[in-house]
Amino acid sequence: MVEFESQFPRVDIRPYQASDLDGVIDLFVRAVRESASEYYSPAQIDAWAQTDREEWHAARLSRPTWVAFTDDELAGFADVHKNGLIDMMFVEPRHQRKGVATALLASIEEHAEKNGMRVLHTYASLGSQPFFEYCGFTMLLARAVEVRGQRFAQLVMEKVL
Ligand SMILES: CC(C)(COP(=O)(O)OP(=O)(O)OC[C@H]1O[C@@H](n2cnc3c(N)ncnc32)[C@H](O)[C@@H]1OP(=O)(O)O)[C@@H](O)C(=O)NCCC(=O)NCCS
Repeated sequence: MVEFESQFPRVDIRPYQASDLDGVIDLFVRAVRESASEYYSPAQIDAWAQTDREEWHAARLSRPTWVAFTDDELAGFADVHKNGLIDMMFVEPRHQRKGVATALLASIEEHAEKNGMRVLHTYASLGSQPFFEYCGFTMLLARAVEVRGQRFAQLVMEKVL
C-alpha cells in the first residue's frame, strides 16, 4: 500500500484485486450518475452507466488497475493500458476534490516511468477535462463518439512524461 500525504484525508493506493470488482462497479455507476449528470442528458447517462460484470472482471485484470481508499473506504480507481491509455479514472462522488484522482494518477505515472512509457493519453469526459488539465494533460482534439446509441463529446488529451 502506498500512502500519499496532502492537506486532505490520507489516500492509500494499492493494486486492484478480483475481490474489488463489485465495489468498483458500484463506484463507477455512482460517479457517472451523480457527477457526470451535470454534463450529459439522462439518456446519455443511462447509456454510459451500463456495466457487464463478466466484461468488467476481464478488463480490470487485463491491465494494471489501482484502487484508492480514504478512511478504509473505496474512494476511486484507475487503470492504464500498455499504450499509455488511461481508460478508467473514477472517484466516489462524496470523496471528490480531496486529491484522490491526483493520487491515482501519481501511481499511474510511477508505473509508466518504470515501464518506459513516455506519453499518457485519455479520452476525457466533459466533467474530467479540468482535472486532466490540472495534472498537465493538453487537449489534442474534441470529437463525438457513439456509445450504445448515444453521441458523446470526447476530448482526446495527452501528457508527455
Ligand atoms: C474527474 C474526477 C476523476 C476527478 O477526481 P477528484 O478526486 O475529484 O480530483 P482531484 O481532487 O484529484 O482534483 C485535482 C484538481 O483537479 C481539478 N478538478 C478536479 N475536478 C474538477 C471539477 N469538477 N471542476 C473543476 N476542476 C476540477 C481541480 O484543480 C482540483 O484541485 P482543487 O480541488 O484543489 O481545486 C472525478 O470528478 C470523477 O470521477 N468524475 C466523474 C467521472 C468521470 O468523468 N471520470 C473520467 C472519465 S474519463
